[in-house]
Amino acid sequence: MRRSLTLLLAAALLCPGAQPVRSRKAMVVSREANATDAGVAILQAGGNAIDAAVAVGFALAVTHPSAGNIGGGGFMLIRFKDGRTTFIDFRERAPLAATRDMYLDKDGNPTQDSVRGWRAPGVPGTASGLEYAHRKYGKAKWADAVAPSVRLAREGFTISYGLAQGLKGSKAMAQFDESKRIFQNNGRFFEPGDKLVQPELARVLDRIQKVGAKDFYEGETAKLFAKQMAANGGLITLDDLKAYQPAERTPLQSKFRDKYTIITAPPPSSGGIGILQMLSVLEKTGYEKNGAGSAQAIHFTAEAMRRFYADRAEHLGDPDFWPVPVSKLLSVNYLNKLRASIDPDKATNSDAIKAGDIATMESAETTHYSIVDSEGNAVAVTYTLNGGYGSGVTVPGLGFLLNNEMDDFSVKPGHPNMFGALGGEANAIVPKKRPLSSMSPTIVLKDGKPFLVVGTPGGTRILTSVMQVIQNVLDFDMNIQDAVNFPRFHHQWRPDKLYLEPQISPDTRRLLEQKGHAVEIARSICEMASIQFEDNGWLAGAADPRVEGKAAGY
Ligand code: DON
Repeated sequence: MRRSLTLLLAAALLCPGAQPVRSRKAMVVSREANATDAGVAILQAGGNAIDAAVAVGFALAVTHPSAGNIGGGGFMLIRFKDGRTTFIDFRERAPLAATRDMYLDKDGNPTQDSVRGWRAPGVPGTASGLEYAHRKYGKAKWADAVAPSVRLAREGFTISYGLAQGLKGSKAMAQFDESKRIFQNNGRFFEPGDKLVQPELARVLDRIQKVGAKDFYEGETAKLFAKQMAANGGLITLDDLKAYQPAERTPLQSKFRDKYTIITAPPPSSGGIGILQMLSVLEKTGYEKNGAGSAQAIHFTAEAMRRFYADRAEHLGDPDFWPVPVSKLLSVNYLNKLRASIDPDKATNSDAIKAGDIATMESAETTHYSIVDSEGNAVAVTYTLNGGYGSGVTVPGLGFLLNNEMDDFSVKPGHPNMFGALGGEANAIVPKKRPLSSMSPTIVLKDGKPFLVVGTPGGTRILTSVMQVIQNVLDFDMNIQDAVNFPRFHHQWRPDKLYLEPQISPDTRRLLEQKGHAVEIARSICEMASIQFEDNGWLAGAADPRVEGKAAGY
């Protein structure tokens, strides 16, 4: 007995789980190696995490064109070394000429215009947001933070296996000559090992480096952009570009199991409210005692997910345009009510769930990166073009792809967007309004000190996946790499389906079906980029093995 216990303990020490990348002082985790390297380089040169976030953001716009962008928008969550936090919202806004029913045909049916082509983009926010963050909180020279992206675009970089596949597979880009020319080699396609050189994009980034974001919103880039928009039936004008402003907001924050604090994305993200509501519902159920990946733990979590998504559809939108009832959705009474409505043995039919009183899709892409610097500042950025390669449109002469973020609005009440998400009045189209998002850059503190930096792309699956990585570490005691690798699942109320990654065992699947869940297999739910502060003072960076990410530090 004693001997077997010793053997077991020895095995546990020899097999401590999947290993993250470890570093002593600073760490960058992103979806693409050149971008991660750009972030590490500026940190080593004395820049802080905000500078690195700028460098990685611009670099990904070159090396990860499906989601990295200057033609889109996103969110940056920062926790400074002194404990202050902030959230920079550089999400796209609806153009001034946008109207509520702009994506309905004469019979009132949604068209494809919110998804494809020149009418799909919202006014991009990335260049403005990154500059705002740098001006207020950066330390390095702006030119040094933008420099790696200019070089990568001008000199080119080697196309990886995954990028070659992605570029080849994009039906959206195949429809637009300029995208097809630049990213699909005019239909001849690129092979892994080829070089992607982007001279037009290099010139835009070079101007941004020299003149600042002003070039994108008022200068040469802006003028060319507006001209192309007008020539192709798009809505975005020079006035739209000039009027664009990022918003600095207060992050949402809540305690979990006493010793943890979750700091996360406020509206217009739905993610933070979702993560906090779902975790609070789960906290007092004892679900974790069933063990990670057990049918019972999945059941409880899925029931919390299902309930939140009903609220999301009804109550959430841009807080500058809609009174989002954040505190009611997170109030103790309401959380108790939600918790009490969960049957431990039986799935609730989504028809029986309504918002509180107070999918299948074309390949989609967004990207997340996490950074910690040697001073202890932590930054989590999620930014996006929405769909993979956005609207499919590359602006001729400017070399950057445009988002199709307008599809994140509710184009018609009750009509699901490309992620199957429903919405209504709270998320209706209004000029200058920001569409509701699921992007959820999140930072977790343990005993008041930074502990996790997490985030991912994945549309409506973002918040449920961010939450699962947090659960895996906090409730199931996994290290960050195991937590990221662990099979994921997702429920979003409508459609009434429980999506499971194929690695979840058939036995578990059967138990969930017996409880009444309509189970469907979903290949590869999300791609996390996470960092953990380990108890011994080391940083652990975890890229997601589902994709070609890279964690690196020093
Ligand atoms: O803001 C949102 O919620 C979406 N536009 C995000 C899209 C996304 O994550 C696609 N990625 N897989």
